[in-house]
Amino acid sequence: MDSLVFIILTLCSLSSPPFIKSINIQTSFSVDLIHRDSPMSPFHNPSTSQFNLIKKAAFRSNSRLDRFSLSLLSNESPESIILPNNGDYLMRIFIGTPPIEKLVIADTGSDLTWVQCSPCMNCFPQNTPFYDTTKSSTFSNVQCDSHSCTLLPKEQQLCGKSNECFYSYHYGDRSFSIGELGFDSISFGSSNSTLQGANSVTNGNITFPKSIFGCGYYNIFTSDNSGKASGLVGLGAGPLSLISQLGDSIGRKFSYCLVPFASNSTSKLRFGNEAIITGEGVVSTPLIIKSSTPTFYYVNLEGVTVGQKMFHTGQTDGNIIIDSGTTLTYLEPPIFDNFITSMKEAIGIEQVEDSSSPFSYCFTYQPDINFPRVAFHFTGGANVTLEPKNMLLLYESNLLCLAVVSSNIEGVSILGNVAQIDFQVEYDLGGKKLSFVPSDCAKN
Ligand SMILES: *[C@@H]1O[C@H](CO)[C@@H](O)[C@H](O)[C@H]1NC(C)=O
Ligand SMILES: *[C@@H]1O[C@H](CO)[C@@H](O)[C@H](O)[C@H]1NC(C)=O
Ligand SMILES: *[C@@H]1O[C@H](CO)[C@@H](O)[C@H](O)[C@H]1NC(C)=O
Repeated sequence: MDSLVFIILTLCSLSSPPFIKSINIQTSFSVDLIHRDSPMSPFHNPSTSQFNLIKKAAFRSNSRLDRFSLSLLSNESPESIILPNNGDYLMRIFIGTPPIEKLVIADTGSDLTWVQCSPCMNCFPQNTPFYDTTKSSTFSNVQCDSHSCTLLPKEQQLCGKSNECFYSYHYGDRSFSIGELGFDSISFGSSNSTLQGANSVTNGNITFPKSIFGCGYYNIFTSDNSGKASGLVGLGAGPLSLISQLGDSIGRKFSYCLVPFASNSTSKLRFGNEAIITGEGVVSTPLIIKSSTPTFYYVNLEGVTVGQKMFHTGQTDGNIIIDSGTTLTYLEPPIFDNFITSMKEAIGIEQVEDSSSPFSYCFTYQPDINFPRVAFHFTGGANVTLEPKNMLLLYESNLLCLAVVSSNIEGVSILGNVAQIDFQVEYDLGGKKLSFVPSDCAKN
């Protein structure tokens, strides 16, 4: 790529030859998910206090909400909302032949998997070399007139002079990434999974040949750049996401189990049969994918119980996005107002005001807090009881804050990752359902 001339190239006409070969053999495997602030993370800075980490995570979460809202409200493609260092969980992938290890953000809120590539025209700093496609014997370009290229949202796809398929994403905060789509092997160092009938397994690793990914040549990010992550894995529901590409080979299923913030254990992300959660206490609710925002996983929150009180949202068509990369839970104004009123009443401790706080309700820690039972009622009888660890963050040495805040925007609610700690959460795209079961994620 010698210039950015392609930006002004017109879109080429597109035919639709057959799509990615679907792999019919079922594969099952798991990878570690590392919280960016956990002791296992390369981002971990032992000198940063837990309070500071929580504060930063809350602010990161807010800026992620801004991107979500931007894309939900402006009818822009949701593909335009990816930012590195802005998701909370990292994972390792290997790209190409020979395989190059990359630490990337795992993001259920976006679709395209991409890494920074050389020759890089403008990249954010990373402490490992940029990916060099010429050194991989299995890399090939995605052609602009191929079906694979049309999986990019139209306004973000451009044809190069030699029929290359370029992508161009612009973000609300003036960040952007421009690059080229290619095919290469993506593998996952696997744990002790059964790997039965896996597509291609050697030495406990599992490889998906010809995976589509983005090679970012021109990436500017206005968020913090610590040089550790070098890209992102898109786990959204859209057609380009890793989940959609693996498709039938993982039975269109994945699950995760997130350990608490400061745990020394890693969380797990599972694919295929291994992802299925069964047994006592499993509840399921319909998973709703909207054609207007095909990336996001929606479920429908019918009501919330706080202590003895329950209120209904009166909504049915998918009113909350479930996301692993957003820290806090955001509720849209009418739902939040009911929720916060009930919470304040039940907890009964005076609010500590701090206008610079990212939270809506903080109060002084007291040993005898009367924390009410909180349950989210999702459509289909999926009642999910949230424990104090799913609702409260210790912020400063004696301040507890609710990890549920107002989105301030009608029609935008997100179930964040604090609320999902110590639950196994299964996404079954084929069966169109989302399942939860409480679990000790350090052991599972
Ligand atoms: C995984 O196995 C493939 C196929 O044998 C091999 O080429 C590749 O180097 C292995 N990847 C890793 C990360 O070990
Ligand atoms: C994690 O490990 C460190 C050092 O071994 C220890 O001090 C700390 O208590 C552990 N944290 C948890 C939550 O187990
Ligand atoms: C879920 O909670 C609602 C409201 O409390 C209750 O009416 C319903 O019976 C519960 N469903 C199940 C399956 O427990």
